[in-house]
Amino acid sequence: MSLPCQDLSHFPRGRLIGQGNFGKVYETRGDNVLKVFHVEPLTEWNAHGVAPYQIREIDALRRCRGLQHIVQLREVLIGAEHETVVVLERFDGSLSSRCKMSLGDIKGVLRQILKGLQGLRSVGLVHLDIKPANILERAGGTDLCLCDFGTSRWTSAQVVGNATTLRYRSPEGLLGLQGVSACDVWSLGMVTLEWYTGRTDLIDASSELKLLSSLWQLVGFPSEETWPGFSRIPVCQLFAFSKKAQSSPSLLDNLLSEETDTNFAHLLKSMLSACPETRASLEKLAEHKFLRE
Ligand SMILES: Nc1ncnc2c1ncn2[C@@H]1O[C@H](COP(=O)(O)OP(=O)(O)OP(=O)(O)O)[C@@H](O)[C@H]1O
Ligand SMILES: [Mg+2]
Repeated sequence: MSLPCQDLSHFPRGRLIGQGNFGKVYETRGDNVLKVFHVEPLTEWNAHGVAPYQIREIDALRRCRGLQHIVQLREVLIGAEHETVVVLERFDGSLSSRCKMSLGDIKGVLRQILKGLQGLRSVGLVHLDIKPANILERAGGTDLCLCDFGTSRWTSAQVVGNATTLRYRSPEGLLGLQGVSACDVWSLGMVTLEWYTGRTDLIDASSELKLLSSLWQLVGFPSEETWPGFSRIPVCQLFAFSKKAQSSPSLLDNLLSEETDTNFAHLLKSMLSACPETRASLEKLAEHKFLRE
């Protein structure tokens, strides 16, 4: 059995404006875009050709109707050959082409993204793929929103494996630990570091192991003091960091020099706390001095 196809002639497919792992995004009539998901093979388990990531994205978009700084869903359509098509409000592009930003710009962007993440949290979800390509902007960067909810999960989800794009994946995600609620703040911290430094070469994300080693150099190798229970995590026995490496100042400390705005340095460090329990919550971040002044 297959789902009935719908008439897509109201939404003619225009220029291709974006492409990700799961779909292609086209211009269409009015203030809209079409996100056309890749066609999934029909199987005994996927009789309608609608894969779980498509259902997750549509469900999240529906729950987020009316929320600020989250892309708004207009319609969901099933085209010929089991194509799932979502009609979304149109933005001008993503932040993937932005590199270095001033602290003033970072402040404006973070205020909006945090509102989006708080809205998402208010409907019980975490995003799990926060990265520049999933933050849309209107020309001038005045209006930003989160998009791409195919990886979103309930805040109560336990392990989610490799949902997050590797370079923005949290230490707890890389270590396969339980709990996903603090993952988005880590990813946002890594994105903020890129905007502040204008550099993407500070970490090696060519494999999970290399990334973990890079992260320890970035934020410091965790101790029982900074991450209670860290030494009992089985996979952590793999890290044979020398005593010297463990006690040397972190790359983040070097990057946040004495001239750096102290409130910004504090905010960034609290987002990039390796231990998820001590990482700043969305509420704490929204009230942070750097974002309020
Ligand atoms: N509403 C929109 N308005 C303008 N451009 C958009 C919109 N939605 C998506 N895009 C563009 O299309 C790109 C891909 O969209 P999206 O991230 O939703 O697809 P995806 O296949 O799920 O991506 P990923 O590979 O990150 O999982 C975005 O990075 C952005 O550049
Ligand atoms: Mg995307």
